[in-house]
Amino acid sequence: MCGIVGYTGSREASGVLLDGLRKLEYRGYDSSGMAVLLDGVIELRRSVGKLSRLFDEVAKRPVSGKTGIGHTRWATHGRPTEENAHPHMEGGVAVVHNGIIENYLALKEELIREGARFKSETDTEILSHLIYREIRNGARLEEAVREAVRNVKGAFAIAAISEHEPGMIVGVRVECPLIVGIGEGEMMLASDIPAILDVTRSAIFLKDGEMVTLTRDGVKLQTLRGERFHREPRHIDWSPIMAEKGGYRHFMRKEIAEQPRAITDTCRGLLLEEEGDVFLNGFDVPLIDVERVYLTACGTSWHAALAGKYIFEELFRIPTEVDLASEFRYRNPLIDKKCLVIALSQSGETADTLAAVKEVKRRGASTIAVCNVIESSLTREADWSFMTHAGPEIGVASTKAFTSQLVALYLLAVYFGRRTEKITRETGMGLIQELLKLPKKIDKVFEEEGRIEAIARKYFHSRDFIYLGRGVNFPIALEGALKLKEISYIHAEGYAAGEMKHGPIALIDEDMPVVALAPLDASYPKMLGNMEEVKARGGRLIAVINEGDSEAAARVDDVIRVPVSTPFLTPVLLSVPLQLLAYHIAVNKGTDIDQPRNLAKSVTVE
Ligand code: M6R
Repeated sequence: MCGIVGYTGSREASGVLLDGLRKLEYRGYDSSGMAVLLDGVIELRRSVGKLSRLFDEVAKRPVSGKTGIGHTRWATHGRPTEENAHPHMEGGVAVVHNGIIENYLALKEELIREGARFKSETDTEILSHLIYREIRNGARLEEAVREAVRNVKGAFAIAAISEHEPGMIVGVRVECPLIVGIGEGEMMLASDIPAILDVTRSAIFLKDGEMVTLTRDGVKLQTLRGERFHREPRHIDWSPIMAEKGGYRHFMRKEIAEQPRAITDTCRGLLLEEEGDVFLNGFDVPLIDVERVYLTACGTSWHAALAGKYIFEELFRIPTEVDLASEFRYRNPLIDKKCLVIALSQSGETADTLAAVKEVKRRGASTIAVCNVIESSLTREADWSFMTHAGPEIGVASTKAFTSQLVALYLLAVYFGRRTEKITRETGMGLIQELLKLPKKIDKVFEEEGRIEAIARKYFHSRDFIYLGRGVNFPIALEGALKLKEISYIHAEGYAAGEMKHGPIALIDEDMPVVALAPLDASYPKMLGNMEEVKARGGRLIAVINEGDSEAAARVDDVIRVPVSTPFLTPVLLSVPLQLLAYHIAVNKGTDIDQPRNLAKSVTVE
């Protein structure tokens, strides 16, 4: 899981590559590098650690040239060292790679027997050797890359340049994303859209088994079998500014602030107020045959799926199961054509989620992707796609993509509920009205930020936190705990509040802050009881409650208020203060909020 970028055109490549890498840094940030071609000579710059080190390195030892490739790494094979950083060079060929080469050990042995000398511990280095072997035998770069890739098993996207063919970049996609940016007299390659936006908003999305040859004046598309094809570029409606911090200190904070806009965009054109319905073009899911829904995902997206179970079972009235994608495919699930599987993923590139979808398709299920990235692998794999329009999410900790997923599931439940007459027009109208009010209600939550900052200052030294919720808000407790763990490195656990007395209550003492989610819903009296249990054992209570609730407020140490909404949208309103709490605790701790240690934005390894 890494980010790759390539540029050929009339600008200095190093600047474009560094800007592109900055947008891809969320994909990995333990080392980075670039290779730039000038007058038939490739110069390499590589550094260990954050991308800022590569910026320093290039500032100290500038590199000139109009063609180059760059890489930001999340280590899979080999430690984060300069030798293991990409690009890897052999015989005047430089290669960057995202993914994993499964048969690299066998290939490495073969190459060593032929006399190759390896400088790194990576799987990637075999690619530069394999390509060079073909070039030594007289192949052109394009042909050499194709031949090299034929030998390789795994999931990867690569970009290669050669001293023998200045101005050219060759890229290949096999199960890892690769996008071609089409500019005027300049072309780009990248793992993700934000990296090309400063140069162009016109892009071709490669599919698996396809390759591209870029020169400054054009692109040549072909399959790995050498068959030429044409594909029209797509216009990207993300602006370059969307991928910038826009005055915020961190991407995460900016993305939290963007949630009203993200939700409005996700609903745009879909809400039929008069009919109490949702308009989804081409969603001809054979609902008559569907007996069971499965929701599957990883991480934060899995938390959205867990909330989705409550929403689906209540609104669509259909049995709904939730599975972690990384477990689903290994447990021989009872899937057949009567199942509808909905896979959620911000990136659409999470390896376990993709593998789960492939498996359930093989077993005959219908599949829907709920995804934030157009043309991602997941949207290609699924039968139907519901796109969230959260815009690029750069902060590693997911925020706006999560609440957009919650809204997407709400919309799908209303849509299916209306199709199957489980939801009447009147009920549908009420549900749509609540959704229309949601962005403004989120804005109201932001008014609590000062109070949240004060709570963060009070508790940021704590070693552990417990988050409690009930019903559809239990997954929000899990998500609140995950946000805190990810960016502040504080140990945090989310529990269904009713489970407290079955064990976790033993952890409660005066050093244990407990965040209780207690909106005025059907579980409210029970939540009050659980909060009393915490107080009785000396725990320190922070409650997220509804505006106007003085009863809960009187019993707790600290309070955060959110507006009242329907129970199925309340999870969105509760998520926002939990994101802000995690954020401000992390600010107090001085951690690296946008790039927490050991994490990467999309996990493209299984
Ligand atoms: O792109 P995806 O939604 O498939 O990613 C799934 C998880 O890797 C992701 O949600 C992860 O848990 C985030 N770091 C959460 O903030």
